[in-house]
Amino acid sequence: MKFEIVTLFPDYFSLSMRQSLIGKAWDKQLFDIVLVNPRDFAVDKHHSVDDTPYGGGGGMVMMLEPLDRCLESLGWPHKGKEKRPSKERLILTSAAGRVLAQSLAVEYSLCERLTIICGHYLGVDERLLSLYEIDEVSIGDYVLTGGEPAAAVMVDAVARLIPRVLGNFESALGDSHMDQITGAPCYTKPAEYLGLKVPEVLVSGDHARIQQFRTDAALEKCRRNRPDLFRRLRAADHEGPSE
Ligand code: ADE
Repeated sequence: MKFEIVTLFPDYFSLSMRQSLIGKAWDKQLFDIVLVNPRDFAVDKHHSVDDTPYGGGGGMVMMLEPLDRCLESLGWPHKGKEKRPSKERLILTSAAGRVLAQSLAVEYSLCERLTIICGHYLGVDERLLSLYEIDEVSIGDYVLTGGEPAAAVMVDAVARLIPRVLGNFESALGDSHMDQITGAPCYTKPAEYLGLKVPEVLVSGDHARIQQFRTDAALEKCRRNRPDLFRRLRAADHEGPSE
């Protein structure tokens, strides 16, 4: 898998993506991350990448031409020119996009190439979406100052699903949201701290009881923190298996 990140702030990634499991997996070449700066494709002597919005109002808009030239340099075709390879996706980070969910992370993890454009300022000139087939993706219903943290979240959520990135792939299968529910609470040593004890069942060695405890505790956490998900889960249970 190759991630290409189109960003005005490549330094944001060069250090953060070198940390932890993602950094180790990148070192092991389980995927590659290429950083591209649209400023390198600006056409004026000031290397401008943004300008004021038509129609007035405050803020700045990312200009079309540097982004278009940048995507062209990466080999992305304009809409209708060539068929987009099915295992390659072009993504724009945007608070107005489709919200990233585990199902979308799984879909992206099956791709061979993801190019993520980090939006900035008010956003990109909307005509970019007419020129290219682009998925607009948000990481949640709040507004960031720029798309870099969103791109980092996307890379992390997708990369950990690539085989061998996690030491224990089973842990990805047991993830919160993999089954549409939030994860079970977990504990580690010591078995008691400041009088707080680990639930007895977890040290019982009885695997059936442990499994039941985890399912029940995950559901309880889901009911408390995500009543929306909990209701959906309940409704699906009552409907029975889909055909
Ligand atoms: N840019 C600004 N806010 C964002 C969000 N919530 N998700 C993705 N990109 C963004």
